[in-house]
Amino acid sequence: MITLKSSHELDLMRQAGKITAAARALAGAMVAPGVTTREIDRAVARYIRSRGASPSFLHYNGYPASVCISVNDEVIHGIPGNRVLREGDIVSVDVGAFKDGFHGDCAGTFPCGEVSEEARRLMEVTRQSFFEGIRYAREGYRLPDLSGAVQRFVEERGFSVVREFVGHGIGRKMHEDPEVPNYVEPKAGRPRFLRGMTIAVEPMVNAGGAGVYTMPDGWTVRTADGRLSAHYENTILITDGEPELLTDPDAKAE
Ligand code: MF3
Ligand code: CO
Repeated sequence: MITLKSSHELDLMRQAGKITAAARALAGAMVAPGVTTREIDRAVARYIRSRGASPSFLHYNGYPASVCISVNDEVIHGIPGNRVLREGDIVSVDVGAFKDGFHGDCAGTFPCGEVSEEARRLMEVTRQSFFEGIRYAREGYRLPDLSGAVQRFVEERGFSVVREFVGHGIGRKMHEDPEVPNYVEPKAGRPRFLRGMTIAVEPMVNAGGAGVYTMPDGWTVRTADGRLSAHYENTILITDGEPELLTDPDAKAE
């Protein structure tokens, strides 16, 4: 069941989104050679709590940290730890914050120092594919219009979209209906977009093939071919016009 949010609920989602977006900016600003992924996790958790919110991911299905940090060929759900970031890494950071009953969820991939030309292009195509997709995130279109736009944009540029993980509705729960794939799934439903829907759109894009596998830690997802992967996500509100981005891509680290 897809829930439509009331204007009061949307005010609460804007608050959660604001904290989440600032947390992503903070994490991104920390990405630098010599920093450990655990340091980023700690700082983000502290920031989220300082704003009266809690990290959505901590203990979600047993997840052991507050942030997902996925480096290079890691696609999503990387667990922060002792790993030291190195010049040339690309670092995907995914954060969620829960405040007054509602979640925000967003992600981005950040360069650690100077990165390869391919890495830069992958990060840029991934970010742009989100914005291509959300041109269709408004009343008058259906979900597969968005999915197809992301897929087409990515594949035309020689990259591939991950199939096993998808975006999602979001609100009182982090994962609500509908699923939001980044490819056209002929067997899936074709829900119409209606104002008041809130969804997390999150392309996961691989430089090589679409295949992925989960590591023995039960969480970290990596590319099957060992090539790079990038992730970009925002929580958005469907309206009768342009979608409202509840996690501001231009938020500043505070
Ligand atoms: N941002 C992820 C998503 O959209 C959630 C991370 S999974 C967790 O599904 F377990 F780490 F929370
Ligand atoms: Co998400």
